[in-house]
Amino acid sequence: MPNTLDQSYVQRSAWRPDLFAGKVVFITGGAGSICRVQAEALVLLGANAAIIGRNVEKTEAAAKEIATLRPGAKVIGIGAIDVRKVQSLKEAVDKTVQELGRIDFVIAGAAGNFLCDFNHLSSNAFKSIIDIDLLGSFNTVKVTFDQLRKNKGAILFVSATLHYYGVPFQIGVGAAKAGVDALSNALAVELGPLGIRSNTLAPGKIQGTEGMSRLSKASESEAKRTVPLQRLGTTEDIADGTVYLFSPAASYVTGDVLVVDGGNWQVSSGIGANDYPVTLLDAINAPKGGKL
Ligand code: COA
Repeated sequence: MPNTLDQSYVQRSAWRPDLFAGKVVFITGGAGSICRVQAEALVLLGANAAIIGRNVEKTEAAAKEIATLRPGAKVIGIGAIDVRKVQSLKEAVDKTVQELGRIDFVIAGAAGNFLCDFNHLSSNAFKSIIDIDLLGSFNTVKVTFDQLRKNKGAILFVSATLHYYGVPFQIGVGAAKAGVDALSNALAVELGPLGIRSNTLAPGKIQGTEGMSRLSKASESEAKRTVPLQRLGTTEDIADGTVYLFSPAASYVTGDVLVVDGGNWQVSSGIGANDYPVTLLDAINAPKGGKL
C-alpha cells in the first residue's frame, strides 16, 4: 500500500469525487506523512489547500506534488512558519485567504516528539513539545477563527491514544495530546453555536509514517498478533477518517475523537514491549545524568 495517495483513491473510496469542491483547507504539518495524506484526500475530492510547515523546501515541494493530484487544484506551500509563533501563523492565514479566497477546514497537525525517559527529559524539552503540539494547535485555531466563523467551518486536531494510559518515554506528547483532546472538546461546546465543528483524529500505528519510523518498532507480523484488526494502519485509513469528519456525513458530529488504530488501544497498555520495565530502568539509570 503506498504511503501517498493517487487518483485511484477517488474510484476506490466511498466518497463523491466533488465532495469538497469550493472548500479550502489550511493544514499545519501538511508536509509530514499523516497530515500530507489528509491534504491529498481533501484535494483529490475537490478542495484547495494551504500546506503550512517549518521547512521551506519540504513544504513547497509537498504542495507542488499534491497539486498534481487533481487538474485545476490550487495548493500553496507556506514554509518557515512555526506554530509556536502566532503572528507568523497569522501571516500564513492572510496569504491563504489572499490566494485561495477562504478557509473552511483547519487541520492542526504540526507535532514534535522524541523518545526520552523522565530523568533525562529537561524542563525545556518538555516545554518544546507542549508548545508545538498544544499551544501550536491553539494558535492554529486562533488565527483561523474569523474564517471558520464566516464559513461555518470545521476543525480537526491530530491527537494520539498515548494519554489513555501511562506510556513511558512519551511524557511530553502524552500530556500535550491530552490537552489537545480537552481543547477540541471545549471548542466544540464554545463554537458549536456558531456552526463550527471541532473533532480529533487519533491515529494508531500507521505504517510508513514519520512517527512510526521515529518512535516505534512495530512490524506487520507483530500487528497480526497484537492488533484486533490484525494489521498496521495505512495512511489511507487516516485519509478516510479525515474525509468522514469534514464531510456532511459528520454534520452532527462534534467534540468527538475518532480513533483509527484497528482497536489497538483497547488491548494495549501502551508500553508495547515485553521487556518493560527493564528498558525503562536501563534508560532512567543511564549514567549521563538527569537534566533539569
Ligand atoms: N531527547 C531528549 N531531549 C531532547 C531531544 C531528545 N531526543 N531532542 C531535543 N531535546 C531537547 C533539547 O536538548 C532541548 O532541551 P535543553 O535546552 O534542555 O537542552 C529541547 O529539547 C528543545 O530542543 P530544540 O532542538 O531547541 O527544539 P526545537 O524547537 O528546535 O525542536 C523538537 C523541537 C525537539 C520537538 C524536535 O524534535 C522537532 O523539531 N521535531 C519535529 C518533527 C517531529 O518531532 N515529528 C514527530 C512526529 S511524530
